[in-house]
Formats: sequence, C-alpha cells, structure tokens
Amino acid sequence: MDLAPELERVLITPEAIEVRVGELAGQIEAEYVGEELLFVGILKGAFIFLADLTRRISIPHIVDFMAISSYGKASVSSGAVRILMDLRESVVGKHVILVEDIIDSGRTLAYLQETFAGRRPASLRSCVLLRKERTHAEVEIDYLGFTIPDVWVVGYGLDLAERFRTLPCIAEVKRSLYQA
Ligand code: IMP
Ligand code: MG
Repeated sequence: MDLAPELERVLITPEAIEVRVGELAGQIEAEYVGEELLFVGILKGAFIFLADLTRRISIPHIVDFMAISSYGKASVSSGAVRILMDLRESVVGKHVILVEDIIDSGRTLAYLQETFAGRRPASLRSCVLLRKERTHAEVEIDYLGFTIPDVWVVGYGLDLAERFRTLPCIAEVKRSLYQA
C-alpha cells in the first residue's frame, strides 16, 4: 500500500482489523445470548469500527451515536469532556455497549462510563478498538481490539486534524507532525 508522506508505517492491516473485529463480535454475541443490545458509537472516530462490528452481530441490536469533544491535547491538565450531541433515546434498562476508537489517557472513556452509569442502564460495557500502552490501568475495557505503542495513529475512523479517517488500515503518523 502506498502511504501518504505524513505517515510513517502501517501498524495494523485491513485484514488484521477484519479478523479482530470478527473475534470481538463473536465474543459479544456469546455473552449476550437472549438479550437485546444498544451499541453507542462515539463520533466521529468510532464510525467505521461501529459499522463493521455491528454488521457482524446477529443478535438483536440497535445503534445510536453520541458526539463528544475533549479540549484537545494542549490542555490535557483540564481533562474536560463535553457532550456535543446526546442520544435520542433513554438507556434505562438497556444493555449498553459503548464503542470507542481509541483510548489514550483514558479520560474520555472514564467520563463516558461515569455519565452512562448515572443513567441506569441494565448493564454497561465498553468496546474499544485501540488502546495505547500508557493508558491508566483503572479504565475498564471489556472488549479490546489491539494495544499499540504511544504514537499518533490514523485510519479506520481515526484522524489527524480530520484527515485520513477513511484509510482502510491503521497507520502511524510521522512524529514531527504531532510533536513540537
Ligand atoms: P483520552 O481521553 O486521552 O483517552 O483520548 C481519547 C480520544 O483522543 C479518542 O477518542 C480520540 O478521539 C483521540 N485520540 C487519542 N489518541 C489518538 C490517536 O492516536 N489518533 C487519533 N485520535 C486519537
Ligand atoms: Mg474519539
């Protein structure tokens, strides 16, 4: 595959992603037999992962979306997360699976888990495609695709300033582009 000049290398191929997403779907199906699921995709990063994952789930399920914004990597100390678009329906009594693209510090997922726990779902789990090695151990991820090094990655939904989201693989960005 020809990589754009901004990208260092392919970290995870489309084939490896496909295999892993299938495994995660199988694991989820096996654990929710007889239940109905609500998948909540976190926009924008999770849109491709959510689409591929849910198309491989054959037990009854619905999907919904939430958009959030963190205050950027420059203000990591504030750790503030804001809801830009909330769900259309209540989650009370539903089996919810949060679907996220990537966990870095873990702050975003921790915020989402806390927010959803307060909404009284029947159960709450998290399915995350990528987790960086430095992620705090306290954040609980029930279904994890891959653990990756502490580098900036793009593709399969993930971006660098909105670019590269539709790249079919997960690629590492050249360090000079995200580090001062
Ligand atoms: P956290 O709150 O530090 O765990 O950051 C999680 C959020 O930051 C993710 O939902 C992504 O939107 C974004 N993010 C973190 N690392 C990357 C990356 O390597 N590529 C693209 N987005 C990232
Ligand atoms: Mg995201």
